[in-house]
Amino acid sequence: MGVKSRILIVGGTGYLGKRLVKASLEQGHETYVLHRPEIGVDIEKIQLLLSFKAQGARLVSGSFDNHESLVEAVKLVDVVICAISGVHIRSHQILLQLKLVEAMIEAGNVKKFYPSEFGTDPATMENCIEPGRITFDDKMVVRKAIENAGIPYTYISANCFAGYFVGGLYQPGQILPSRDSVLLLGDGNQKVICVDEDDIATYTIKSVDDPRALNKSLYIRPPQNILSQNEVIQLWEKHIGKKLKKSSISKDEFLAMKKEQDYAEQVGLTHYYHVCYEGCLANFEVADDVEMSKLYPEVKYTTVEDYLKRYI
Ligand SMILES: NC(=O)c1ccc[n+]([C@@H]2O[C@H](COP(=O)([O-])OP(=O)(O)OC[C@H]3O[C@@H](n4cnc5c(N)ncnc54)[C@H](OP(=O)(O)O)[C@@H]3O)[C@@H](O)[C@H]2O)c1
Repeated sequence: MGVKSRILIVGGTGYLGKRLVKASLEQGHETYVLHRPEIGVDIEKIQLLLSFKAQGARLVSGSFDNHESLVEAVKLVDVVICAISGVHIRSHQILLQLKLVEAMIEAGNVKKFYPSEFGTDPATMENCIEPGRITFDDKMVVRKAIENAGIPYTYISANCFAGYFVGGLYQPGQILPSRDSVLLLGDGNQKVICVDEDDIATYTIKSVDDPRALNKSLYIRPPQNILSQNEVIQLWEKHIGKKLKKSSISKDEFLAMKKEQDYAEQVGLTHYYHVCYEGCLANFEVADDVEMSKLYPEVKYTTVEDYLKRYI
């Protein structure tokens, strides 16, 4: 096994980004984290960056408004992993990555780029409804720029972050499991794939120096985490020792309700629609050589059942 790649994490203070920094350090990579001057006096981010430094990461100053600074940052490493925001209820900055691609073209040294994806494979979402399709359309614009530039890549399709989906028993707008009643999306029988966020980071870093991952889309489908809403509710009921009162919302009612929400919420509801009514995550086959729980069986992933126990 050769020397491990040096990794730059962009968006390192974010929800997923901070886990990528941790996993990169844990797996023994020389780890660099972009420090954007724009974060100013955001004391939480500064403290987090300092904690990365204390754990051995190197902080690199760089701004999306300063091309040269991005070029200098990417020149320091072999692999760039971007976890810039892409959830409208928080922030959506996916197209800023085009500037990172420009920097990598000029630097010319990057052996692999992981754009900020980590969700539903955007290549499977051509028929996504408005307004949620912007997430996938923008991610595809970034893919096109990467591939046109000839930058080697790995795309990670991580399916649902467990914190959003398992936490809320798949109910949009909820991230804590209910103890009295629950709203089923349709019949609650579509299979959904949920992944612990730390596991997403672990699998991603595992693939960095793996030739099997080069220029591929990889999928995280831990077998025990492919569960319908009804199955997740049953697990929760078992742990709290109580049955929840159930009601359901039909597809048409759900889509009508979506129209009453603000834009950011509509984007999120669109995603819930495709995941929970159409089963868009699990309704296609994935070969074993691109499924990360099969590529890296040594990773003891967190099951949805164990994830749920955190909320008891
Ligand atoms: N599958 C799912 O269920 C799911 C759920 C959530 C997210 N995701 C995906 O995961 C990825 C990361 O999302 P996240 O929720 O972890 O992101 P996040 O925490 O909202 O933001 C990540 C980072 O983006 C950077 N950022 C934000 N605004 C910026 C700006 N204006 N200019 C430059 N950088 C900016 C910041 O990094 P610094 O301040 O550190 O530079 C921030 O910490 C996205 O692609 C998203 O679509 C998937």
